[in-house]
Amino acid sequence: MEVSKLCKSTNIVTINGIYPGPVLYAQEDDRVIVKVTNETPYNASIHWHGVRQRLSCWSDGPAYITQCPIQPGQTFTYEFTLYQQKGTLFYHAHISWLRATLHGAIVIYPKTGVPYPFPNPYDEHIIILGEWWSMNPIQLEQSTLASGGAAPPAEAYVINGHPGPLYNCSENDVYSIDAVPGKTYLLRLLNTALNTDHFFSIAGHNLTVVEADGEYTKPFVVDHLMLGPGQTANVLVTADQSMDRYQIAMGPYVTAKNLTFQNITSIAHFRYTGAGLTSVARPATLPFYNNSLVVNANMDALRSLEVTNLPLQIDENLFFTIGLNVEQCNRQNPNLTCQGPNGGIFAASMNNISFTRPNVSLLQAYYNSLNGIYTADFPGLPMKMYDFVNGAPNNSPNDTNAIFGTRVKVLEYGAKVQLILQDTGTVTTESHPMHLHGYSFYVVGYGSGNYDPTTAKFNLVDPPLMNTINVPVGGWAVIRFVADNPGVWFMHCHIEVHLSWGLSMVFIVKNGDGPLESLPHPPSDLPSC
Ligand code: C2O
Repeated sequence: MEVSKLCKSTNIVTINGIYPGPVLYAQEDDRVIVKVTNETPYNASIHWHGVRQRLSCWSDGPAYITQCPIQPGQTFTYEFTLYQQKGTLFYHAHISWLRATLHGAIVIYPKTGVPYPFPNPYDEHIIILGEWWSMNPIQLEQSTLASGGAAPPAEAYVINGHPGPLYNCSENDVYSIDAVPGKTYLLRLLNTALNTDHFFSIAGHNLTVVEADGEYTKPFVVDHLMLGPGQTANVLVTADQSMDRYQIAMGPYVTAKNLTFQNITSIAHFRYTGAGLTSVARPATLPFYNNSLVVNANMDALRSLEVTNLPLQIDENLFFTIGLNVEQCNRQNPNLTCQGPNGGIFAASMNNISFTRPNVSLLQAYYNSLNGIYTADFPGLPMKMYDFVNGAPNNSPNDTNAIFGTRVKVLEYGAKVQLILQDTGTVTTESHPMHLHGYSFYVVGYGSGNYDPTTAKFNLVDPPLMNTINVPVGGWAVIRFVADNPGVWFMHCHIEVHLSWGLSMVFIVKNGDGPLESLPHPPSDLPSC
């Protein structure tokens, strides 16, 4: 589809001719069937982010993990049940960087007759925080990888696809919500940006958080919220201020040092019905771009409304470091321009293993017992602790030692897993929104510095249940889940450039013995590579 933004016209990939993509409305426990026909010249696949895919791993969607890409002209039908799930999630392309424009909201209502655990809103709106690029996202990924350096900043940050009035040629490209004075609205927020965490606020109005990552939370009130790519939240906002027009603002939260980014705020409007159109909207404020205090305060306040199935005993205690590496540049490769730190190239790793994407899907390799595609030796502990010096991450850019490979960690069916995620890095530490497929997990602990089991405080009473945890800059998070969904499940940083650099790993969860504890057979239209 041809679109014109920021005085430039460009062709983007869309779903059914709509950008952002059409909303998938459903109810808890619905069976969802989506037939995807690829009419683009590129390989494609769609992931249902946050959908737990109970016994439906074949429909999860990450290319080369659970399926081969849907090739140009091909059709694949995704089929899954929204088993015990409600709230706001989203879908997106899970191949190359196509998700820049290929994404849309999933709204799952409670079952008929089941109310929300908060007062019924008067109305609701979806607010997608995104990034705009006029460059083809496939070329964008390729040129970034060829440079060896950091990804370029987005040309604009967008709210539901609109850059807002602070960008060139965008005075009228502004998203606006009309609010009836006195009424309460449910805003379904999602961050689909490729590479940027984002703050969000509305001038003069508090936000009451009632849901995060598709799970109800104990309500809490904030004036700013931060969402990492892959995170969603539902907030209530009441039009209880004086009759006027108010800015809705999004802007970057940046934790890496020396990173170039677009420091422009994207603005939408929250306009009281009857307020004059000519008045200047009341300005919203956002925290300073590297303010982690706001982020930590949000995280502290985040509590599950109800907790079920939180493992108190642990069968598998895992410790993964996550971070960026710098590798020596291969001067023999004429395609590489080696613009990373010290003339090297960026890589990224978990436990010092930088994930290499296979050429066939891991799920097919596992299901058909193909040899030579992956090895089951992903380390459960860091390969080496070289990047910790006196309890602090060592920032000298001299590591050329990440190990490249397709390694998986195998889990027994039903294993109670605790996973400690430690943020580190040889270049700089920064926060990483870590996303797990096939499960939601309880975030039982969260802190700065290096994880220390003797001082770490855990919440085993009402921890939040999430699918994406923004592991804090230079800090750690501890998550727990029960491995009761058989299949091949990707875990990765949801910052697209970090994923491209190898910041991912794969869990294989074995079948159990019971009738509803096995991976089903593959669908007949599953693409081949
Ligand atoms: Cu939303 Cu593997 O991604």
